[in-house]
Formats: sequence, structure tokens, C-alpha cells
Amino acid sequence: MSTDAIVLLKEDHKEMRRLFKAFQDAEEGPASQRQKLVNQILEALTVHTYLENEVMYPEVRRLLPDLEDDILESYEEHHVADVLCAELAAMDADHEHFNAKTTVLIENVRHHVEEEEEEWFPKVRDALGRKQLQEIGEKMIALRSDAPRTPSDPKAIKKAIDAVTA
Ligand SMILES: [Fe+2]
Ligand SMILES: [Fe+2]
Repeated sequence: MSTDAIVLLKEDHKEMRRLFKAFQDAEEGPASQRQKLVNQILEALTVHTYLENEVMYPEVRRLLPDLEDDILESYEEHHVADVLCAELAAMDADHEHFNAKTTVLIENVRHHVEEEEEEWFPKVRDALGRKQLQEIGEKMIALRSDAPRTPSDPKAIKKAIDAVTA
């Protein structure tokens, strides 16, 4: 298994895309199924955001100051997604806003993931060596089992606030 940070983050993105597609296929389906999928989406996003906020973004910012603007934009994009995730976590699937909110979350995250994969991950790959990317990946692997899994976890909330106000 690869420990390369970019490979690991892209694996997470792939799983998110799969869940997004599954939600869109189930959009007209029973509330219980939509609820289950949104719970999975929220968990995947909470863990992924935590690892990026805790490890990837600060490391890239430290090692590659030229990418600072990309990182700052990423924090703000995550913040928008965090707000939607927190609202969705508190909402039942039969609420009239549930599907619309989930759709906006999916659109936002898809845009963000595209920017990561197409715009700044390639710059990071070019600028950092294999070894550095593996070290960053190892830090993310070590932190993963300890990551918050729901948007209401105090660890998730604290990180989300620190990321945009610190
Ligand atoms: Fe991100
Ligand atoms: Fe990401």
C-alpha cells in the first residue's frame, strides 16, 4: 500500500465521488436510504477534512510558501462544506431542504476536489520529493484512527474554526 500523501488523499476523493453518485442515484428513494448515504458522506468528509487541516495543508504551507494562496482558498472552501455538513447532521432526511442541501454540498466538494487534483496537487508533486510525500502520508495514516467521524465531534469543530480564524 502506498503511503504517498497525494495517493492517499486521492483514494479518499474517489470514495467520496462514489458516495456522491450513490446519493444522486437514490435522490428519489426512501428517506432511510438517503439518510444512510448522507451519514456515510458526512463521515468521509469529516475524516478527510481533519487529515487535510491537521497535516497536508500546514505541511504544504510550511514547505511551499508559494502555494499559500491555494491553501488559504482550500481552508475557506472546507469551511463552507463544514457549515453544510453541520446543518445536514442535524436534519432528518424527510425535511424538504435535505436533498437540496446535500446537492449543494456535493457540488461544492466536487469543485474543491477538482481544484486539488488538477491545480495544486500537481504543483506539490513537482516540488516535493517522493520521500517527503511519503512522510506526510505516514503522518496522515497515524492520525486517521483518531480522527473525528461526525461533524458534531468537538475535535472536528475546533479544527474547523482554527482553520479559518487562526
Ligand atoms: Fe480539501
Ligand atoms: Fe481533499
